[in-house]
Formats: sequence, structure tokens, C-alpha cells
Amino acid sequence: MVSFRLATIVALAASFVSASVPKSAHFDLTEPSYDLFRSKPLHDDTVQQGFAFDNTNRRLFVSQRLNGASDTSGNLCITQLDFSGKILGHMHLTGFGHGVAFGAQASGSSTYLWTETDVNSNGYGQKLGRFKFVNGATLSHTSSSVQKFSPVSGGKEYTASIDPVNSRLVVRYQLSDGKHIALYDLAAATKGDFSAPLVNFKQPLPPTKGKNFQGYTAYGSFLYLLWGDSYDVSSTLNSEVAAVDLNTGAVTQGPVLTKAGSTLSFREPEGLAIYETAAGEVRLFLGFASGAAGDRRSNLFYKNATVA
Ligand SMILES: *[C@@H]1O[C@H](CO)[C@@H](O)[C@H](O)[C@H]1NC(C)=O
Repeated sequence: MVSFRLATIVALAASFVSASVPKSAHFDLTEPSYDLFRSKPLHDDTVQQGFAFDNTNRRLFVSQRLNGASDTSGNLCITQLDFSGKILGHMHLTGFGHGVAFGAQASGSSTYLWTETDVNSNGYGQKLGRFKFVNGATLSHTSSSVQKFSPVSGGKEYTASIDPVNSRLVVRYQLSDGKHIALYDLAAATKGDFSAPLVNFKQPLPPTKGKNFQGYTAYGSFLYLLWGDSYDVSSTLNSEVAAVDLNTGAVTQGPVLTKAGSTLSFREPEGLAIYETAAGEVRLFLGFASGAAGDRRSNLFYKNATVA
């Protein structure tokens, strides 16, 4: 009788524990990276900030600040490129945010972007926005075609990235004690339902040794984080990546120094994203800006080796 009641209590308690994510392998961050492309111009001239794949429609989008826009304007350009780095289109966004990370989601043959929006005085978005990518359009954050979300009570400065293989939305946001990470089912989030995060925890690593935070994404049960500075700021190689177990919030690997594109000029690390090839090879992409001011270029590399 006693043991039966104990089992009942344990089962009840377990039902209150937040849902977890099925365990997956993580990318081996110590393995070398391969090139997708180097030194490709974007629509505008500024450094790229982040990038995202619409894995279903096999499209690539790169974010950057609009030419001439101030740090805090939140005015962004999204360039669509093919996988050889050729420009296919662009869209301008006004009053959105910084663009450090965003997501791209297929809806039929259209792509919807998940970005920060409603820029605050620091240049970061106070909400998450979702809208259709329309080549050549300029979209204001006040437009009714931007769906807006505030996923977490008290959360500020939202950004997002997508795990396209598992259809999950990873959201990074600010609370009074620092940055937090929450993971959602993408279909639920698309309906505006953020009531059941799969995980939700404080980001374990602050930007290390004063390095700038430069991107994140998730695949399976791991979160990937990127930091580092351009060669203008740090003359030595200082870009690093870490893998965090989404189920525990603990660092599993890293931070590991990455040599991807080490010979690029300027070389500022700018963004992480996941892409699965038609052949089923899943890749962790790392982005870097290169080149001279007024003529910055986009560079994408990937890792594909995993640790079980
Ligand atoms: C990783 O990518 C490289 C270059 O495209 C390829 O040669 C290699 O077979 C891939 N490895 C895995 C594990 O997919």
C-alpha cells in the first residue's frame, strides 16, 4: 500500500517536470569546417549579422544592417542567396532589431521569417515577429503583416533560430538576470502557442573573456553558441563555438576555437544555422563577415561530423 502510494506520487511529480527533448548526437566542434562559399557580396555593404535556411524550399537568407543605418535603428536588409552565394533577392525591414539570429520557415512555396521586431533604444527587438519574405519589399515593424509574439512572461530582447530537421523554434531572450533559452514546437509557435516550452533555462555561458556573442542555433538535443571578434578587434584567432545539452542546460563541448576561414580578411564571426541536405546530411553552418568597410562580404562554412 505504501509503495503503491509512493509510485503514484512519483508519477504525479514526473508529470509536472517540463517536457524534454529526445537525446541526439552533437556536432564535433573540434573537427574541421568545410567551405560553402567565400567572399560573396550581399545586397547592402555592411557586415552580415546572421543567416537562416528555409530547408523545405532550400533557400538561404542573410541579415545585415541597412547601409547607413545607425546601431539602434533596427533597420535591416535580408538578402536571399543561392547556395553558391549568388544574390536572388532582398527585403528591407525597418525598426526590427540587430539581426544576430533569425529563422526561416516554409509555408507551401513561400518562406516566412522569424526575426526580432519592435526595436528598443539599445537596437534590439522587444518582440518576436513572423512575416512572409517578399522580394524587393520594404516592411515596417508597424505593418499589420508582421505577426508579433512575446513568448515568455517578463521576457525582453527576443531572437529566434530554427531546428529545421525537428521543426523546433529556439528562442533567446533577456530576463533581469541575463540571457535565457527556450525551445518550442514550431507548429505550436506558429499558432501563437508558447504555453508548453520543451525546455527553458538560463544560458550557461556568458560571452567569454569579453568576446561578443555572435549567434546560436539548435539541432536535436543540443544548442550551439558562437562568440568572437573581428581581426580589427582581436589580432589573434578568437572565434569559438560551444555545444550545450538542451535537457540539462550544461555545456557538453567547448568553447572550442574555430579556425574556419582563418585566412579571411577582417573575419568577424556572424551567425550559426542548421541545414539538412537532400541526401540527409545535417550540417552546422558558421558564418563570417570579411572584407573592407563599405564592401563587406559573406562567408559560410559547415561542420558535419558528430559525436554519438
Ligand atoms: C562532410 O562534408 C564533406 C565535404 O562536403 C564530405 O566530404 C564528408 O563526407 C561529409 N561527412 C559527413 C559525415 O557527412
